[in-house]
Amino acid sequence: MNYESCLASLREAPRRWLVTGVAGFIGSNLLETLLREGQHVVGLDNFATGHRHNLELVRNIVGEFAWQRFTFIEGDIRELGECQRACENVDYVLHQAALGSVPRSLNDPITSNDVNVSGFLNMLVAARDAKVSRFVYAASSSTYGDHPGLPKVEDVIGKPLSPYAVTKYVNELYANVFAKSYGMQSIGLRYFNVFGPRQDPDGAYAAVIPKWAATILKGETVYINGDGTTSRDFCFVGNAVQANLLAATVTDAEAINQVYNVAVGDQTNLIELHNLLATRLQKIRPSLVCPPPVHRDFRNGDVMHSRADIGKIKTFLGYEPVYSIQSGLDVAAAWYEQGVGS
Ligand SMILES: NC(=O)c1ccc[n+]([C@@H]2O[C@H](COP(=O)([O-])OP(=O)(O)OC[C@H]3O[C@@H](n4cnc5c(N)ncnc54)[C@H](O)[C@@H]3O)[C@@H](O)[C@H]2O)c1
Repeated sequence: MNYESCLASLREAPRRWLVTGVAGFIGSNLLETLLREGQHVVGLDNFATGHRHNLELVRNIVGEFAWQRFTFIEGDIRELGECQRACENVDYVLHQAALGSVPRSLNDPITSNDVNVSGFLNMLVAARDAKVSRFVYAASSSTYGDHPGLPKVEDVIGKPLSPYAVTKYVNELYANVFAKSYGMQSIGLRYFNVFGPRQDPDGAYAAVIPKWAATILKGETVYINGDGTTSRDFCFVGNAVQANLLAATVTDAEAINQVYNVAVGDQTNLIELHNLLATRLQKIRPSLVCPPPVHRDFRNGDVMHSRADIGKIKTFLGYEPVYSIQSGLDVAAAWYEQGVGS
């Protein structure tokens, strides 16, 4: 099924979805699309890294009528009871809640493990007991670890390079065991550097695109870790939303209990990324002065290069990325420009 027919069938027969991490970046984008498409959504979040203002922004975009179809539970996935409450009468779970960031996990591996592994296991148990139809979860490209091969193909992974990568790989192992032991249906989505509106530009663990957008808009110097040839497959959030909805609704038995790369299949290095972003921000705000970036040490735990093979997700889920890095950055740059005062 392609994305258009997936959306059409959801509009025709609305379902009840649980989005964990709903106040975060990807979670709030999922919420926006699901409410726009007439779905009923339960959201779970403890605001560890997500924000109430993300929910308010979605409310303003979708309007009060659609907002009535949303129920928010403030709770922690480390509490099994909260997970059970959130899973009641749910058809599909889109599990996004986790502590992201490689450096965060290096600084505090215990908390990353508690949330990303114990919290994940709680969610699996709650979803199994509630007999949800499908459990879709946020996996990560960090699972490719130290394997140098490019492009990254789902079956060929290396050893993890950070505690965060360990937690995300353990998620896949648990989902696989729950499929075999309890007949649960799950799909893991290995996101590759997702970016777009509502990704947090603040704090020590901000991702590169929002952090640089905010830095450039303040006229400050951008720091590039390493020589700038480090490359990534940057994926606009609209593509990740598409992957989630397709994964939740696919009916082909072969497609279920699998992991998939979610990316564009492109590779952009950090120097190119800086140029793409700075050009867009300067076009929107011509008065902007943009000093040249300054290089500093390569960051521990990071991989040098990343690019996804997206053949598997195209074949089995009918995924077609709509946004390139360029068109995604057009949207993201405009969004950050509006948010960061001149
Ligand atoms: N953004 C990316 O590029 C990327 C790449 C790979 C994987 N991922 C994964 O995608 C998911 C979403 O990431 P994001 O970029 O939207 O991050 P985010 O930090 O914006 O969202 C995560 C959300 O989870 C919530 N949360 C954290 N701990 C929780 C807990 N104990 N109980 C309940 N809620 C909790 C946070 O408050 C936040 O709202 C995460 O699982 C992340 O590991 C993201």
